[in-house]
Amino acid sequence: MERFENKVVLVTGAASGIGRAATERIAREHGRVYCADVNAEALGDVAARVAELGGQGASRVCDVSKVADCRATVAACVERFGRVDALVNMAGIIRMGHTEDFSVETWQQVLDINLSGTFYMCQAAIPHLLEVKGNIVNAASSICFRATPYAAAYAASKGGILTMSRMLAVEYGKRGLRVNSVAPGSIDTSMAAPPGLPEDADFKVLSRSMALTGQAGPEVIANAIAYLASDDAHHVNGEHILVDGATVA
Ligand SMILES: NC(=O)c1ccc[n+]([C@@H]2O[C@H](COP(=O)([O-])OP(=O)(O)OC[C@H]3O[C@@H](n4cnc5c(N)ncnc54)[C@H](O)[C@@H]3O)[C@@H](O)[C@H]2O)c1
Repeated sequence: MERFENKVVLVTGAASGIGRAATERIAREHGRVYCADVNAEALGDVAARVAELGGQGASRVCDVSKVADCRATVAACVERFGRVDALVNMAGIIRMGHTEDFSVETWQQVLDINLSGTFYMCQAAIPHLLEVKGNIVNAASSICFRATPYAAAYAASKGGILTMSRMLAVEYGKRGLRVNSVAPGSIDTSMAAPPGLPEDADFKVLSRSMALTGQAGPEVIANAIAYLASDDAHHVNGEHILVDGATVA
């Protein structure tokens, strides 16, 4: 498939996990991928990997919790490739802990990166996406549909992303912009060993987030992202795709 021939996709969180898998999937389909991540070291070889796989890559270090950084990243992508056809917002963090012990600083950090970062990137990219009738794919989570404990800030951020995505779809749908989300179940990335998991965590309750067939790799989410970001999904708007191995079912 070459669904991204002549398309430009801006991916945040591109240095690792699902963002990296999406970057590679789009590159294999000959897309031009602008890769953004706060982790400069991990971002190092991503653009080169895109070229190896048949696409064109460029990258920029970006902290999505900083609005100026988000605006500069979108501008740099447009300067480099002339347009943005799709924005894939995968940058995110998880912090766990008993809610009564959770610090205000950590609560704010999770919301700043996950929810505000997604909003800042959308806001900066929307004028460019409207020019080409493009689309946005945001990172929600199966946690929006099947709650698990010790992650109130993360769950709040993902619920916000899901609802904001649907709202943006309705706000901009008539102007040709699509906004969808992926809702991964538990996926084998660096997020699989989250900081702050309480020592006395109840694993029986935590196992609510486990897929019937065990943990899948990030490529299963990349497949859904590539579908939503491509013209194959031209009539799919305001939707989420759960990719969770029947966890929620
Ligand atoms: N792995 C899972 O089980 C799972 C489940 C549901 C949802 N998700 C969501 O999928 C997305 C990708 O997660 P992942 O599993 O690939 O995790 P990951 O940790 O492998 O990748 C997240 C990436 O985001 C980057 N990032 C973190 N803070 C950033 C910031 N301030 N600015 C820019 N980049 C930043 C990290 O450097 C990293 O490269 C996240 O939004 C996550 O919440 C993951």
